[in-house]
Amino acid sequence: MQNIIRVENLTKKYEELIAVNDISFSVEKGDIFGFLGPNGAGKTTTVRMLTGVFPSDNGEIYLAGYNLKDNPFQAKQKIGVVPELANAYLDLTALENILFMANLYGLLGSKVEKKAEELLNTFNLEDRMNDKVKKFSKGMQQRVIICMALINDPEIIFLDEPTSGLDVESRRLIKNIILELNDKGKTIFLTTHNINEANSLCNKIAIINKGKIAAINTPENLKRTIKSSQSIRVSFDKDIAFKFKDWDVVNKVKKEGDKYRIYTDTPDELIFKLTNLARNHKTKIRSINTLDPSLEDVFIKLTGGDKT
Ligand SMILES: Nc1ncnc2c1ncn2[C@@H]1O[C@H](COP(=O)(O)OP(=O)(O)OP(=O)(O)O)[C@@H](O)[C@H]1O
Ligand SMILES: [Mg+2]
Repeated sequence: MQNIIRVENLTKKYEELIAVNDISFSVEKGDIFGFLGPNGAGKTTTVRMLTGVFPSDNGEIYLAGYNLKDNPFQAKQKIGVVPELANAYLDLTALENILFMANLYGLLGSKVEKKAEELLNTFNLEDRMNDKVKKFSKGMQQRVIICMALINDPEIIFLDEPTSGLDVESRRLIKNIILELNDKGKTIFLTTHNINEANSLCNKIAIINKGKIAAINTPENLKRTIKSSQSIRVSFDKDIAFKFKDWDVVNKVKKEGDKYRIYTDTPDELIFKLTNLARNHKTKIRSINTLDPSLEDVFIKLTGGDKT
């Protein structure tokens, strides 16, 4: 497998603050790589270094084999960027914004215009391409910004919180486009603090916290790393007000509505005990499920509970 992004010992300081602290990782061609972390973890700082907005204080970055310091021009030709809180030019139309970006890449002519129109079509903006962007909703503006990032047909697409603050429909559209681009062989580097988004889109996730990578793996393997978060959710026909915590197989108990969520290392044993308990209290188990650890459990464990 080819490492289309390779990062070695990357560090960035803002005066005294070490925003990114000696991180190393690689992304394989064709990955949807999630960079997941709470606010202030260092996600945007990392993306800005990877996309050449500012240099790192230390470390090396390779994009499609090119060292970003030694071959910045070649490296940047390979990437498209949707920056955090980006703006399109409000006084230009959607189409003009994309053509403006195309010009920056040295792309000119009718072929590019056709490509821009195709992109706008994909993003359901074909009817609005000649409207000024200032008339667009936030979700529509974000779609224009993504079109701008795609005009040079990049191999690697960086998206920094692309769905943040958007409604369900725009989020869904952007997620689908990410999957489609990936289907066409594009590598996606996606920063997010949305655990569900990372879980549903990414085949590899790095969890970043306080400038360090706390874990890096597939979502499923990440979930497996914290076995102790396995739990049983159970409800009884009548409330038996039993102190589950007194059992030695139980790690933690949470009441969830009319159900109990009981954390354990040994689900089989716990189910056996619950069945006996119901019998002894002359009641029935109304529902029972074994729940695997969620990515949220992993995230909370690794980042010390900061979910925002
Ligand atoms: N221009 C700057 N000057 C000084 N400190 C900064 C600057 N930009 C970011 N920081 C600090 O660096 C750390 C990492 O910030 P960064 O923006 O990379 O985090 P993030 O993971 O993208 O967070 P968010 O989820 O809020 O976007 C934070 O502590 C932040 O306050
Ligand atoms: Mg950020």
